[in-house]
Amino acid sequence: MPHLALELNNCLNKRVSELGPSKIRAFDQKVSSIPGIIKLTIGEPDLNTPDHIKQAAVDDILANDSHYAPQSGKTELRQAVSSYLKRSLDLEYDPDKEICISVGATGALNDVFMSILNPGDKIIVPTPVWALYFQLIKITGAIPIQVDTSKDGFILTSQHLQRVIDEQGPVKAIILTDPSNPTGRVYSKQQLHDLAQVIKENNLISISDEIYGELVYGSNKHHSLSQFIPDRNILISGLSKAYAMTGWRLGYIAGPSEIMKNIIKMNAFLVTSVTDNVQAAAIEALNNGSNDPLEARKVYEDRLQFMKAGLEKIGFEMSTPQGAFYIFAKIPDQFGNDDEKFANELAFHARVGVTPGRYFGEGGQGYVRLSYASSKENLKESLRRITNFVENLN
Ligand SMILES: Cc1ncc(COP(=O)(O)O)c(C=O)c1O
Repeated sequence: MPHLALELNNCLNKRVSELGPSKIRAFDQKVSSIPGIIKLTIGEPDLNTPDHIKQAAVDDILANDSHYAPQSGKTELRQAVSSYLKRSLDLEYDPDKEICISVGATGALNDVFMSILNPGDKIIVPTPVWALYFQLIKITGAIPIQVDTSKDGFILTSQHLQRVIDEQGPVKAIILTDPSNPTGRVYSKQQLHDLAQVIKENNLISISDEIYGELVYGSNKHHSLSQFIPDRNILISGLSKAYAMTGWRLGYIAGPSEIMKNIIKMNAFLVTSVTDNVQAAAIEALNNGSNDPLEARKVYEDRLQFMKAGLEKIGFEMSTPQGAFYIFAKIPDQFGNDDEKFANELAFHARVGVTPGRYFGEGGQGYVRLSYASSKENLKESLRRITNFVENLN
């Protein structure tokens, strides 16, 4: 096994070296070794990709579709994304110039951050949030500004945004996750309208990560900042969550052509183009699979109600989760703000894995995230174990 030559000790990229590994993944790995543990730690659908989508990929492989696709994605897929955005959100995007297909929403985030951020630029990140944003922003040399939303039920209000901009001086951009990972909160049309006003008045670029947009429950509806500020919002989404396609790695970006020019260039630099048969599967999902997310939504909503009721019964408090597949719950009083201690004890003593809230940034202390993208049997058993654990504490 080769070891790096001693003289090359300082050869690594400094920004990458300074970034720590994902705490969420590290915690998940740590608790994975506990025999019999039920893990509600990772945001990964337990459902399978629908058969008609899988078949489209198989057919595509057998038809020898194995050459470089266009760098912004197959024309038919960009058209399918454009039609989807029109029918779901009444948005108009030109498939030729305003849409790019990426390797998952993560690839989309990299394409976007690298295309708009310069070293020293400030970008507002409402927290608690999916923590990978911090790493991807820092790689560009830009500065993430955390804005703790815990006092407002995990919603960034327009007044709060204005206050932060006034305090911070020049800010270039904001990224908004809606529906939210980890809190499951969903922005109302009015809240997005008000935020859009402030974004416009202060001449910011916005990025809306809408990867959970299909997964909203009850009377809640998903809206998009692009409905209010299409000339300055970059919309990111993909098929990972709603179609149970996390491993396929298919995302997309829609925005004004002047910005998309750079984003498409960046996508080409990073990956050339997305795998052909994955794109064929995505065309099938978007053109013929509109029922699939509805089916998934029913399953998740049932689990959400079950977990929420059970946790509230034993004293957990939470701002009502309305979307995605997470519950972000305040830990029992005995643990004060020490969500890490609580999550460790729950894992090692009760054999249930949940993620400490502090790993999602400011405002997450004192909370844990539970993913209900797990089977009902697992959820029933984990609730039984959590209940025993908490009742023994009392
Ligand atoms: C808010 C958010 N954005 C993006 C992603 C990444 O999505 P993908 O698997 O399509 O890269 C995740 C995954 O957990 C997420 O929670």
